[in-house]
Amino acid sequence: MAAILRKTVVLVGMMGAGKTAIGTGLAKRLAVPFLDSDAEIESAAAMSIAEIFERDGEAFFRDRETEVIGRLLDGTPGILSTGGGAFLAERNRRMIHDRGVSVLLDADVDLLWSRVKHKNTRPLLRTADPRATLEEIYAVRAPVYGLADLSVKARGDYSIPEMVEKVVEV
Ligand code: S3P
Repeated sequence: MAAILRKTVVLVGMMGAGKTAIGTGLAKRLAVPFLDSDAEIESAAAMSIAEIFERDGEAFFRDRETEVIGRLLDGTPGILSTGGGAFLAERNRRMIHDRGVSVLLDADVDLLWSRVKHKNTRPLLRTADPRATLEEIYAVRAPVYGLADLSVKARGDYSIPEMVEKVVEV
């Protein structure tokens, strides 16, 4: 990956895969802007993602997500961390494919669960059995994530700088 990006690198993958942490490190490493679609949506709405889901519903959130990703892809190329569901929508995949390069951070369910289980920030996991829900979401999404241009295996025993180097190497 060249140090000066021609296209935005779009990190995709499940909640807990490390998109934000690795994206932040990668942007620093390449000296390019770090962009985060969830953070943009939250600051525009002055509400958390959970509050947006609760007040306006998931469909509303998904429309904001598409708008924000489109706008960020139009700006200076950088590293864009997307929410775990963003790559599921065909309209988003098309934009990302045309104007960016998608990189899947591919983590297994045990690793994802170890990272998300103590947090209450993911509205989709507010169920009676969040681990089972995570597994169901993973099973549905895995084939779609497989459409990403590139894939990097996320491992629990890699530090963030090590993961950043893995992504730089692809
Ligand atoms: C979602 C993942 C979240 C956030 C929202 C929906 C999903 O982002 O966009 O809660 O559908 O997987 P992270 O992947 O950063 O947790």
